[in-house]
Amino acid sequence: MLIEGFGLKRYYQRGSETVKALDGVDIAIDAGEIVAILGPSGSGKTTLINLLSCLDAPTEGTLTVAGKSVAGLSEDELVEVRRGVLGFVFQDFSLLPTLTVTENVELPLLFLGLKAEASRTAAILEAVGLTDRAGHLPRELSGGQMQRVAIARALISGPKILVADEPTGNLDKKTGEAIIALFKKLAREEGLAILLTTHNTVFGEQADRTIVLEDGRVVWES
Ligand SMILES: Nc1ncnc2c1ncn2[C@@H]1O[C@H](COP(=O)(O)OP(=O)(O)OP(=O)(O)O)[C@@H](O)[C@H]1O
Ligand SMILES: [Mg+2]
Repeated sequence: MLIEGFGLKRYYQRGSETVKALDGVDIAIDAGEIVAILGPSGSGKTTLINLLSCLDAPTEGTLTVAGKSVAGLSEDELVEVRRGVLGFVFQDFSLLPTLTVTENVELPLLFLGLKAEASRTAAILEAVGLTDRAGHLPRELSGGQMQRVAIARALISGPKILVADEPTGNLDKKTGEAIIALFKKLAREEGLAILLTTHNTVFGEQADRTIVLEDGRVVWES
């Protein structure tokens, strides 16, 4: 198991009111599987995915990522757990406008103080179908291409699991389908586990497993 969570809760305090964004979720993600999290707006999808990515800590419950318990770890220790295990694809792509596609993709390595290998970057750009856009700036790309840059950037440090919050949310139907096809290829060829949230039940059906949240709880699971 790459990720195992038991009894995960995340409560927010809003004045005197307690918002139970996540209210006792058990979840396990295995190597190489695609898991889609569905549910209405406000059901806790982003909250769950942020917990599983160690971007946020649970109010209660236990979480193990790549065999390490993450309870009570400091920010630096969490970065260490994420490194080489988790690749996160941001919904708004978060590309730097003045950097080329190649430079954006290699940026995480720079932050880690590592040198990018040109052949590896090229292989990843090829995997996401962006070889002919390597020298372009983000503003010269379509939405689907920007999304693929964000995916390539999440892949550069060799994660075992790719996490994407609404990766198709800003894309039209056809481009969204292409991104899902890319995820399937990555899972099949690279053995990557992929965890994504979506509002689109059609994309949900293409996953190996589906988890449906409502009011912070799992109400259906396949
Ligand atoms: N920082 C926060 N402070 C207070 N409440 C929050 C915070 N973040 C999320 N919530 C609340 O937690 C609940 C779950 O939010 P979450 O963002 O996980 O939903 P979601 O399923 O991702 O929704 P969407 O489909 O709209 O993205 C919502 O009621 C939201 O208002
Ligand atoms: Mg969300």
